[in-house]
Amino acid sequence: MACRLIGLDSLIDRLDLERIFGRKAPLHVDLGCGDGSFLCALAQGMPDKNFLGIERLLNRVRTSARKAAGLENVRLLRMESFYAVRYLLSAIHVATDDVDYFGIIKEVAESDRRFAISDGDVDLPMSRFGLIFRQKGASIHWLELRKISPVK
Ligand SMILES: C[S@@+](CC[C@H](N)C(=O)[O-])C[C@H]1O[C@@H](n2cnc3c(N)ncnc32)[C@H](O)[C@@H]1O
Repeated sequence: MACRLIGLDSLIDRLDLERIFGRKAPLHVDLGCGDGSFLCALAQGMPDKNFLGIERLLNRVRTSARKAAGLENVRLLRMESFYAVRYLLSAIHVATDDVDYFGIIKEVAESDRRFAISDGDVDLPMSRFGLIFRQKGASIHWLELRKISPVK
């Protein structure tokens, strides 16, 4: 069974995505991928894209790894999302039902010239949690952030 877990050579260098995935393709990242259901469903439906799941809880990473075993375009990282975003990644889509949290992310990004932001015009399916929150009447807020210069 293929192991989809990434072992890092460095904790501060940007991920070498081409080496990790063995090809060059657009990257989707699920920060807090839980048991990997959403991540793997997306990856299965979009074989031309690369998918990285980041999760801090070991059992969930293991479950994700089992689900991702047959998917060539999925890799997993056991790590704090904060750390991965700060040091290892360059582009981010934010989706949350928490309007206050969303406002804070947007405010921070807008006041930091190292990020370019747009309204996150992405065509992604709803995740399991996204659907649950939407059924409860919550709106999902989207934002796309891109690091335009190194964030040290
Ligand atoms: C609500 S679940 C979402 C699972 C999946 N993304 C989905 O939409 O179906 C949130 C997951 O994020 C993980 N998580 C929360 N904060 C995290 C952090 N700072 N770093 C890594 N994982 C985190 C939790 O352990 C949990 O498994």
